[in-house]
Amino acid sequence: MPIREVSVESVRDKSIRHGHISTLHLWWARRPLPVCRAVVFASLVPDPLDPECPKAFRKAVDAILGRSVSGDPYRPYENIPWTVVDDPMEDNLRNRLMMFIGKFSDRFIQNERVGKNTPVKDQISEYSLIKWESRHNKEVLHRARKLIWVAYHSGSSHEDADALLTEYEQYWNKIEEAESRYYTLIDRDRETPKVQDAKLAVDEAIAAFQNRMPSVFDPFAGGGAIPLEAARLGCRSYGNDLNPVAHIIQRGSVEFPQKFGKPIRFSRERFITRYGKEAWRNLPQEDLLYENGGDATGVYIANRLAFDVDFYARKLLKMAEEEIGHFYPEDEHGKKPIAYYWARTARCANPSCRAEVPLLKQFYLCKKKDKKVYLKPIVEEKSIRFRIEYGTSNDEAWVEGNSLRCPCCGNITPIKQIKEQSQKTGLGLWQIAVIENSSSGKRYRLPNEEELKLAKHEVIQKLDESLIPQEDMIITPDMVSGRGWGITKWKDLFSPRQLLAIQTLIQKHSEIKQELFADVNDDYAQSVVTYLAILIDRIVAIQTSFGRWHVGRETLEHPFARQAIPMIFDYPEANIFSSTTGGFKNQLFWIVTYIDSESWNHFHSVCNNSSSGDINQFPHKSITATVTDPPYYDAIAYADISDFFYVWMKRTLADMYPLNFATPQTPKTEECTALKHHHSGEVKKAYQHFENKLKNIFSAIEHQTSDIVSIMFAHQSTKAWTTLCNSILGANMNITGSWAIDTEMANRSVSIAGAALASSVTVSCRPTKKSGFASFQEVRTAVTEVIRKEVKELYDMGFRGADLLTACFGQAVSVFGAYEHVEKNDGSEVKVSELLALARDAAFQAIISDIEADEYTRFYIGWCNLFGFTETQHDEVRRVTQIGLSLDVSDLEQHHILQKSGNSQQLMPLEDRIQYNPKLGTNKSEWMLNHIHRAMYLFNKGNRDMLISHLHTIGATNGSSFWRVLTSLSEVLPGGTDDFKAASELMANQKNLVREALNYQARQGEQSQLDL
Ligand SMILES: C[S@@+](CC[C@H](N)C(=O)[O-])C[C@H]1O[C@@H](n2cnc3c(N)ncnc32)[C@H](O)[C@@H]1O
Repeated sequence: MPIREVSVESVRDKSIRHGHISTLHLWWARRPLPVCRAVVFASLVPDPLDPECPKAFRKAVDAILGRSVSGDPYRPYENIPWTVVDDPMEDNLRNRLMMFIGKFSDRFIQNERVGKNTPVKDQISEYSLIKWESRHNKEVLHRARKLIWVAYHSGSSHEDADALLTEYEQYWNKIEEAESRYYTLIDRDRETPKVQDAKLAVDEAIAAFQNRMPSVFDPFAGGGAIPLEAARLGCRSYGNDLNPVAHIIQRGSVEFPQKFGKPIRFSRERFITRYGKEAWRNLPQEDLLYENGGDATGVYIANRLAFDVDFYARKLLKMAEEEIGHFYPEDEHGKKPIAYYWARTARCANPSCRAEVPLLKQFYLCKKKDKKVYLKPIVEEKSIRFRIEYGTSNDEAWVEGNSLRCPCCGNITPIKQIKEQSQKTGLGLWQIAVIENSSSGKRYRLPNEEELKLAKHEVIQKLDESLIPQEDMIITPDMVSGRGWGITKWKDLFSPRQLLAIQTLIQKHSEIKQELFADVNDDYAQSVVTYLAILIDRIVAIQTSFGRWHVGRETLEHPFARQAIPMIFDYPEANIFSSTTGGFKNQLFWIVTYIDSESWNHFHSVCNNSSSGDINQFPHKSITATVTDPPYYDAIAYADISDFFYVWMKRTLADMYPLNFATPQTPKTEECTALKHHHSGEVKKAYQHFENKLKNIFSAIEHQTSDIVSIMFAHQSTKAWTTLCNSILGANMNITGSWAIDTEMANRSVSIAGAALASSVTVSCRPTKKSGFASFQEVRTAVTEVIRKEVKELYDMGFRGADLLTACFGQAVSVFGAYEHVEKNDGSEVKVSELLALARDAAFQAIISDIEADEYTRFYIGWCNLFGFTETQHDEVRRVTQIGLSLDVSDLEQHHILQKSGNSQQLMPLEDRIQYNPKLGTNKSEWMLNHIHRAMYLFNKGNRDMLISHLHTIGATNGSSFWRVLTSLSEVLPGGTDDFKAASELMANQKNLVREALNYQARQGEQSQLDL
C-alpha cells in the first residue's frame, strides 16, 4: 500500500466538492474515496513478489504497468522522495503495482526538492488509480479492472495472461455494444418490446462481465464510499447498513446514477407530451436532433436521470412558491432576501426590568479580513434596537459563559433560569436582520414592516400536524433535548415558517410522486422521487433553527459540525426561493452534479438495509473480499443523530419503502455502538454490547468471505487494537497486514516528510482456520524473527517512522493469530492485550535495532516513534526501556532525555535539553543524539562556522552514521514541531555542509602548515 500517496490524496479528498459523494446527503464518518479505492483494489490482487503469486498475474502486471507503457508512468521512484538519504526504489513488479495505486507526480517531487509548494490537485500523478480525476479515466480504470480480472482467474488452471486479457476485452466490448444500442433508441422510456429487448441485452452483458469479477461486500456501508469504489472497479458490489437513512443515501449514491443516469433520445412529440412545450423551447440548441433539415425532430439528453431530477425539482419548487412564496416578500427594489437572521430571546430576571433580550454571544454578521459588518445595539431604558454598522464591534457579548447580562439594567440572569423560562413558555424569537445578495457580495439590512409582520407566528396558521415531526428526540447530552431546555420533539428544531416551508415541499413532493408513478416505470420513478426526498433533506438540514450563520464565509451551515445537535441562540433562516446559499436551487445543484459525476460508472451496487451479522445474508464463502469501516464504541451515535432526517424521510418516502420506514424512528437496539443511554445508563453493558456485536458481525463475515477481509479503523489506541484483534481473532480469522493512513495531514510545505500522524489504520485478515496451541515463549521467538525480516523489507519499500511500526504490528499479530491458544507456563491462556504488547515490543525492537547508534540515541528515536513528545505513564516508560535495551529510567532523566511530571514522563525536545546543558554535544565522546542535537541547535542559531567545526570534529562526512541517524530521527519527529523543522532543514543542507566540513579540514591543514 503506497500509504503516503494515499494519505496525500485522501487529505485532498476532504476539500473536493463538485460531484463528490459527500455532497449528496450528509452522513457521518465518511471514509475518503482514495483510501476506499486503494484498499478494495489492493485486497483483490496478489503481491507479484509473493512466491505463490500466479504467473499470469505477474505477466499481466508487466504488460499493463511495465516499461512498454507509453511514458513508463509506473516506473518506481529513482529515489524514495520522503527519505533524505539516497534511497533508490527497486524496479520490480510489486513496486510498479504500488506506483499504479498511487505515485507522487514528477512535478511534486521536483518542487519538494527545492522547497516549493505544489497545488494539492497536482501532487499525485495523473496515472494513479487513487487520484480523484481517475474516477472518469477510462484507461486507468481498465488497467485496474484488467488486473483484478486476471488476479481473479489466474491460478492453477489459468496461467495464460494474454488469453485472460483477450477474454476481458470481449466481455467489455459486449457491454459497450449493448449499451450503445439501447441508449440510442428513440423514446426508450416507452417500454416497447424492442426497448425491453435492448435493455435486457445491457443487463445480460453487465451480468456476464460481473459474474467473472470478484464480489466485494461492506457490512457497515454508511454513506456508501466502499461499495461505490468496488463497483467502479467492476466488481459485484454489495453494501449493508442497519440505518434506513444511510440505506436511502446509498441507493442515491451507488445504485441510481449508475443504473439510470444514461443518455436518452426523445422524439419531439414524446418530449412535449412528457415535459410540455415550454420545456421544449428551453432546450439548448446543441442538443436538438434533426432528420432531413427543417425543424428539430428530437432531442438528445446526455443524462436522463439528472435531467428528470432537475425538471421535477423545479416543478416542485414552482408549485411550492405559488403557494407560500408570499411569506418571503421581495424588498422595495424587487430583491429577494436570501436569509433572515434570528436570535432567541429571554426575559431579564430582574423583576423591575424584565426586558426581552436577544441571546447574542457576539454581534458580527460578517467578519472577514476585508469586510466587517455588525449589529450595533441601541438600548433605551427597556427597549433594545439595532443598527447595522461596518467596521469593528466594541460591544461586549450579552451571553457569556453561563449567564446573560442584561444590556438594559446590567442584571445577570444565570443560564439555569433561562432554561426554566425555555421549559415553561419557550424562548422568544427576534428577527434582527435580513441578508440579501448584491453585486458586491452579501448585504445586510434591518427587516421592514412587512417582513416583521409575515414572520409573525400567528400568520402561519397552515401547519398540518401530520406532516410535522411530533416524534420525541432521544435524551442525551449530545442533543439539545438532553440539556434541559425543554426542547424535546424533533419539530422543536424548526421555527413556524421553516415548518411551513418544509411541509409545503412535502405536499408538493407527494403530488409529483403520483404524477411520476403514473407516467414512467416504477423503478425509475422511485429513483427520481428518492432524489426529491434527498433534496428536501438537504433543505431541512439548513432550514432549522439550530443551523448556523458562518460569519467568516457568509454561508448557512447545518447543525452537525460536531456530530451532535447543541443549543443554538442565533440562526439564519433560509429563503428557499432565493437562488444562492441555502436556496432550493442551490441544494438541487449539488444533487444533479453528483448524479452527473457518478453516472459514468457502468456498474451499480446492491444495498441492503438490515443489521449485519446475519449468517444467511450471503451463502457460505460466496463473497471474495469484505472491505469495511466499522463503528467505534460511542464515537458517533449514528441512529440517534440520523433521526433528524429519518422523521422527515418517513413523511416523504415511507409509502415507497414501507419496510425501511416501518419503525417510529431509526432502529437502535441492533446498532453496533456503545452508547450508555441505550443500556440503562450502564457503560459496562454498553461496551459489552459493542464488543459482542462486532465479534458476531465478524463471525458472519468469516463465514461468508472466501479470500480476504480488509478493515479500516479510525483509531490506533491500544484499546482500539485490543477490541479489533479480539473480534478478528475471535471470529476465526487472522491478521496478515496493517497500514496506517493519514487523512488529516496538515498542508505543510514539506508535506511528505516527517513522522506520519496516522489517523486510521487498515488491517487485512484472512478467514483461516486456526490450529494447535503454542507456548508464550515459542510465540515470542517466532514474532521477533518475523518482524526482523519484515522491517528490512518494509524499509526498502519506503515505510518509515510510525508507518513502519504499524505495518510491522500487523505482521507480528499474524504469528500468534495462527494458533487457537497461546499458553503461559502455568497453562493459563495468554490474553489478546498481552499478545499485542508482545507484538508492539517486537516491532519496536526490530526498528531500533536497525539504527546504527548507541542505546540512548536508539531509545530517543524509538520512543519518539511511539509517543512523540506526549506525556506517557511511568509503567510504560519502564517497559519500553527494557525492550531490546538495558536502560535505566532515572539515568534517562539525569541525561535530560526524559523529563518527569507527576506519574508520567515526556521526551525532552532539543531546546529544553540545551537549556539544561548548554555544552550538550561538545565532547567528541558523547552519544550520537547529543551530537545531532548540537548540530540542530547551531543550525537554528545560524552559527555556521561553529556548525561546520562541529561537523568536522565528529566526522559527519557523506555516508557517515551521523546523517543516517539524523534521517531516522527526522522520520519520527512529529511534523510541525521545532525539532522536526530543525532536523529537516539541516538535512536539506547536507550537501553544502559536508563540503564545507571537508574544506574546513583542508583549511585547517593549510593553516597548520602556515603555522609551521
Ligand atoms: C463508520 S460508519 C461507515 C462509514 C462509511 N464507510 C462511509 O464512508 O460513509 C459505520 C456504519 O455502520 C452502521 N452500523 C452500525 N451498526 C450496524 C449494524 N449492526 N449493522 C449494519 N450496520 C451498522 C452505522 O449506521 C454506520 O453507517
